[in-house]
Amino acid sequence: MKRKKIGIMTTGGDCSGLNTVIHRVIRGASIRGWRVIGILDGTDGLCGTPRTIELTEEVLPIENARLSGSFLHNGHAGALNFETAIERNKVAQFNKQLRKSLAELKLDALILVGGNGSTSLAWANREIYQDVQFICIPKTIDMDMPLTDRTIGFDTAVQQLTSFCDQLMLTARSHHRWFVVQSMGRDCGNLALNAGVAIGASAILIPEIKFNVDDLIAHIKSAPTDYGIIMVSEGITLRGHSGKPADMISRKLTAAGIVNRTAFPEHTQRAGDTIATDRILATRFADCALNAIENGETYVMTALECGDVKTVSLADFVAAGDSTHDPKIPGLCTANAYIEPDDPLLSVARDMGIYIGNYK
Ligand code: F6P
Repeated sequence: MKRKKIGIMTTGGDCSGLNTVIHRVIRGASIRGWRVIGILDGTDGLCGTPRTIELTEEVLPIENARLSGSFLHNGHAGALNFETAIERNKVAQFNKQLRKSLAELKLDALILVGGNGSTSLAWANREIYQDVQFICIPKTIDMDMPLTDRTIGFDTAVQQLTSFCDQLMLTARSHHRWFVVQSMGRDCGNLALNAGVAIGASAILIPEIKFNVDDLIAHIKSAPTDYGIIMVSEGITLRGHSGKPADMISRKLTAAGIVNRTAFPEHTQRAGDTIATDRILATRFADCALNAIENGETYVMTALECGDVKTVSLADFVAAGDSTHDPKIPGLCTANAYIEPDDPLLSVARDMGIYIGNYK
C-alpha cells in the first residue's frame, strides 16, 4: 500500500500548544508509517515554490514540544494570505497558487492548525483543498471559536495572565493601590473572565456585558481591600472615549480618587511553557485528526464537546458562529463565539463579589 504523505501548517496568531500538536502529529503519523511535511509560515509557504520541511522526531524532539510559538512559523506580516488577498483583489491568483503548490507536494491530507479567521477563510476558499483530505485543529488564546469547548493555547494563556496578575497583586498590596490589567482576547471576554476569576479580581470588564463606570467606582470604593486587580478585556469600549481600554478605565478611577496603575501583559499571554491541560488537548486533537484522515474524512475540524473529542464539519462550524463582516474586506466572514449569558462562570464571579457590569 502507498505510504501516506500528510502536511501540517500553523496559521494566524501563535499560542502555546502548537509545537505539542505538531509533535503529536509526527509521533502518531510515524506509528502509522506516514510521512509528515511541515509547511513553513502557513499559507505563505505555499505561495511560490512550496517551502517545507520533512518532519521527524529528530527535527522536533519531545523536549521541545512544550515550548510556545510555532516551530513551523505562522507567516510574515504583509504577506499574501486569505485576508490580504481579499484586500488586494488577488483571491483568484492566491487560490490558484495554493492549489498548484498543494498539487506539487502531492499530499494526501493537510492539517491546518488555526483560529476562527483561518478556519472560516479556509472553508470559504475550500476549492483549494479539494484534492486533499482537509482537517482543521482549533487554536487560539481568545477562545472565540464555535462548536468547541476549548481551543489549544487558551488554558496556557489563562495561566500566563494569572501568573502576571499574581505578581502585581503583591506590589499592589504594598502600595495600597489598584492595577488595571488589560487582557487580550479581541472581542471575546473568555480570557479576561477566566483569569479574572482565577486571581480573584475585584472587577472584570468584558465586551459581552455592558458596564457602568460609576458602579465600578462605587464597587472599588466599598471593596474589603484597598488594593487589587481590575481586569479589562481589550475588546471593551467606553462611549465618548478612545485609546487603550485600560487607560480609559484608569483615568476614570484616578479622577474618582482611586490610586491605580495600568499593566499590559500583551504577548506574554501567547507565550510560556504549554501547561498540562493544553498538552493533553493538543495530543487528543492530533490523535483525532489522524484518525479522521484514516477514516477518509475531509473538511472537518476537531472539537471538544462535553469532555469528548470528535470531528465537526467545517460547514457546521461556520454556520454555528456569529458571523462578523469586516466592512474593509468585502466577502470576509468569520465565525465567532462569545461568552453566552448563561456561562456559569459569570454567576460564580458575581456571587464572589466581582463586579462584572450589568450582569444580574
Ligand atoms: O487572536 C490572538 C490575539 O493575540 C488577540 O488576542 C490579539 O488581539 C491579537 O491576536 C494580537 O495580534 P498581534 O500579534 O498581531 O498584535
